[in-house]
Amino acid sequence: MVEKSKNQKIQELRDKKAQSRQGGGHDRILKQHEKGRLTARERLDILLDKGSFREVDAFVEHRSTDFGTDQNKFLGDSVTTGWGTVENRLVYVFSQDFTVFGGSLGEVHAEKVVKIMDMALRNGAPIIGINDSGGARIQEGVVSLGGYADIFLRNTLASGVIPQISVIMGPCAGGAVYSPAMTDFIFMVRGSSFMFITGPEVVKTVTHEEVTFEELGGADVHAERSGVCHVVADTEANTLFLVRKLLSYLPQNNMEDPPFLPTDDSPLRRESALDSIIPDDPSKPYNIKDVICLLVDDAEFYEIQEAYAQNIVVGFARLGGHTVGIVANQPAFLAGVLDIDSSEKAGRFVRFCDSFNIPILTFVDVPGFLPGLEQEHGGIIRSGAKLLYAYCEATVPKITLITRKAYGGAYDVMSSKHIRGDINLAWPSSEIAVMGPEGAVNIIFRKELAKAKNPEKKRAELVEEYRTKFANPYIAASRGYIDDVIEPSTTRARLINGLEMLSHKRDSNPGKKHGNIPL
Ligand code: HXC
Repeated sequence: MVEKSKNQKIQELRDKKAQSRQGGGHDRILKQHEKGRLTARERLDILLDKGSFREVDAFVEHRSTDFGTDQNKFLGDSVTTGWGTVENRLVYVFSQDFTVFGGSLGEVHAEKVVKIMDMALRNGAPIIGINDSGGARIQEGVVSLGGYADIFLRNTLASGVIPQISVIMGPCAGGAVYSPAMTDFIFMVRGSSFMFITGPEVVKTVTHEEVTFEELGGADVHAERSGVCHVVADTEANTLFLVRKLLSYLPQNNMEDPPFLPTDDSPLRRESALDSIIPDDPSKPYNIKDVICLLVDDAEFYEIQEAYAQNIVVGFARLGGHTVGIVANQPAFLAGVLDIDSSEKAGRFVRFCDSFNIPILTFVDVPGFLPGLEQEHGGIIRSGAKLLYAYCEATVPKITLITRKAYGGAYDVMSSKHIRGDINLAWPSSEIAVMGPEGAVNIIFRKELAKAKNPEKKRAELVEEYRTKFANPYIAASRGYIDDVIEPSTTRARLINGLEMLSHKRDSNPGKKHGNIPL
C-alpha cells in the first residue's frame, strides 16, 4: 500500500472538516434557509466573536445500525459543539443541526452535549445551547431517552454554578423541553420557534382542541401566557444579539462578581423629574419603568419576561457601572398587586441574582396580594411563599426603595428590613401600613360607620385621619424599619453609594444540604 504524503494527509483533514461543516448537505441547508432559519454554524457565527469558535468532535459519527441508519452517517452528527468568546469572555456552546436527522438527539449527539457541558462546569464559564431539533432520534429508541437524562442531570448540577442559556430556534418538543426549562433563561424567535410537551396532533386526539403550532407553543404564547420564555425577538440575528447583551451583565460563574462597566453617566446625577413622578392621587398609576430608566446608567434597562405577569418588572441594569438585578412592582398594571404569576416570576429572578452575586434592587409600590377565589384556589399562598423565601434566603446586597404603597404581607415580602434588607429607603410619598386607608377604616370603624348619621362623610373623615396618621414613611422610619427617607431627585446617588458601601458584604445561611423552597 502506498503511504499517503504529508500533503495528502493534510488535504484529507481539510476535506473531512469541510464535509463536517456541510452538515446534512447542500439541499437540506437550502431547505433550512427557505424556512427563514439559519444553520447551526451560521448561528454560532453571529453569537460568538468573529473567528473565536473552536469546534470539538467534528468527526463524531453515530453508531446506530437499525432501520438502515448505518448507511446514513454525517461527520459531527446532528449537533455542533465547542467554545468561543462573547466580548472576549469565554462561553461554551452547542448548536443543534436540523439538517442532520432533523437535529434529533441520539447517543452521540447527547455525548457531545454532555462533554461540552462538563467542560463548561469544570472551567467555570456560561453554557449556551441553541435548540432546533425533532426530539429523540426515533431510530435509536431508549438510548436517546438516556441521552436526554444525562443532559438533564448536568443542567441540574450546573444550576447556580454557571449561567445556562437556551435559545430556541426551531422545534423543541416532548421531553426535550425540559433541558431548556431547567436553564436560567430561554430565548425564542417569534414565528419560527415552538416548545410543547405534546404537539397539535396529540392535543387533538386527547382533548379534541384544534390548535396551530404557534398557538400551542409559539414564542408569544410562552412570553405572555406561560412565562416559559424570558426574551423574544423577531429574527434569529436579533435573538442572538440579545443573548450577547444579557451575558454582559453576568459573571462567568458563581465564584466571580459580575463585570464592572465604567460609565460617563455621573453617579451624582440629580433627577428633578423624580420629585413629581408620583401622582398626588394615590389611586393613580405611573410607570415604574420610567423611574428605573431615570435612575440607571444611560437609561439602559434589560428587561426579563417583559410581557409576562406585567404587574412586576424584573431585569438587569447598571448603577455606577455595577450590575444590579431589579425587581419592581408595576403600579401601571393591576395596580402592582402581587399574584401567583408575579410572585413566581420575581422569586425565580431573585434566586438567579443571589446565585450569581448580583445585588438586588427592589422598588416597592404594592397594594398587597390579589384577593379572590381564583388566586386562593390556584395556590397564591404557595406562590407568595416562594417569593418570600427567595428574598429571605438571598445573601447578596439588597437595597429597597419604597416609592409609594407598601401594604400588608407584601411589605414584608418585598425585601423588607426584617428579611435582611441591607439598605431600606423610602420616598416621602410612601405609605407603609397593614392596609390601605379605605379598607382599614371599613374594618376598625365598622360600628361607628353603622351608627353615623352621614356614613359617607364620616368615612371620608376617618380615611383622612388614618391617612395622616399611618399612610406615610415616618412610623416605619421611627422604628428603624426604614433607614432613611430621601428626596426622590437624589436617589441615584444614594443607590450607587449604597452599592459601593455593600461591595464587600459577607453574609451566609446556616449549613444545610439545601433548603426546601415551597415549589
Ligand atoms: C429522527 C427525525 C426526527 C426524529 C425529524 N427527523 N425528527 N429523525 N428522529 N425525532 C428527520 C426527518 O425524518 C427528516 O429526515 C428530517 O429530520 C427533517 O424532518 P421533516 O419532517 O422533513 O421537517 P419538518 O417538516 O420541518 O418537520 C419538523 C418536525 C417533524 C415538526 C420536527 O420532523 C416531526 O414532527 N418530527 C418528529 C417529532 C417527534 O415526534 N419527536 C419525538 C418526540 S418525543 P430527512 O432524511 O427526510 O431529511 C421526544 C422524547 C424526548 O423527543 C424525551 C426526553 C425525556
